[in-house]
Amino acid sequence: MKNQDKYYLKNEADAFFYRNKYNFDNIPSKKKDLVDKFQNNLKHSSIKNILEIGCHIGDLLNYSITKFKADKGFGIEPSKEAITEGEKRFEKCSFYNTVASEMDNFKDIPKCDLIIVNDVFCWMSRETIFKSLANIDNKINDNGFIIIRDFYPNFKIRNRNKHVNDSDVYCHKIVGSHVNLFLQIGCYQLINSQVFIDDNFNLSLPNKYDYSENRWIDALLKKTW
Ligand SMILES: C[S@@+](CC[C@H](N)C(=O)[O-])C[C@H]1O[C@@H](n2cnc3c(N)ncnc32)[C@H](O)[C@@H]1O
Repeated sequence: MKNQDKYYLKNEADAFFYRNKYNFDNIPSKKKDLVDKFQNNLKHSSIKNILEIGCHIGDLLNYSITKFKADKGFGIEPSKEAITEGEKRFEKCSFYNTVASEMDNFKDIPKCDLIIVNDVFCWMSRETIFKSLANIDNKINDNGFIIIRDFYPNFKIRNRNKHVNDSDVYCHKIVGSHVNLFLQIGCYQLINSQVFIDDNFNLSLPNKYDYSENRWIDALLKKTW
């Protein structure tokens, strides 16, 4: 297994940024929806600081800071270009140009009340996935929360990133999603979740198609035994 985190840092994160530009003045409704749907569940909790893993330009992080009246946001993102864009816009966010597996690069981020991981777990290297999970767990306060959006297929499958020709880079979809990994440890409780099919999403069609592959989960977990 290759460490594709390194490839993201060097090439693919910036390439993704350039391929997926949109009007950065308006946060996409699909992103807002991930946080909005759990607003009621969090209305009695004090969310002072928020960390987003794979935060892109930080628009969802900034939106979440406003929504939960938090003081501060931290974003980890391997794309330098995305961070440059975010730093121009969002003064309450501090950005770290690194990946979730490299804790040394973000050890000064405090434990947070909420962590958001939106469509990122599937892109993390399988060589370092346990490290990434441990680093994320380490940054969540006891009784803090994690919001995850991830693929929710019936079977495990990894599809090659069709934009990358010079390295093995995959999207890893696992049974029960990466939410399941947190739940199995016993230290996280499922507070709310929604499973849905993303009809607008273009699957990479060279692979054998199964509708189940395009099923997603949005989940809110609380860190408590
Ligand atoms: C599909 S995009 C989603 C971006 C953002 N969360 C959003 O919803 O717009 C995946 C993001 O994860 C970042 N990423 C990839 N591997 C990562 C890793 N190991 N740790 C942190 N971020 C990573 C990419 O650079 C990219 O910005």
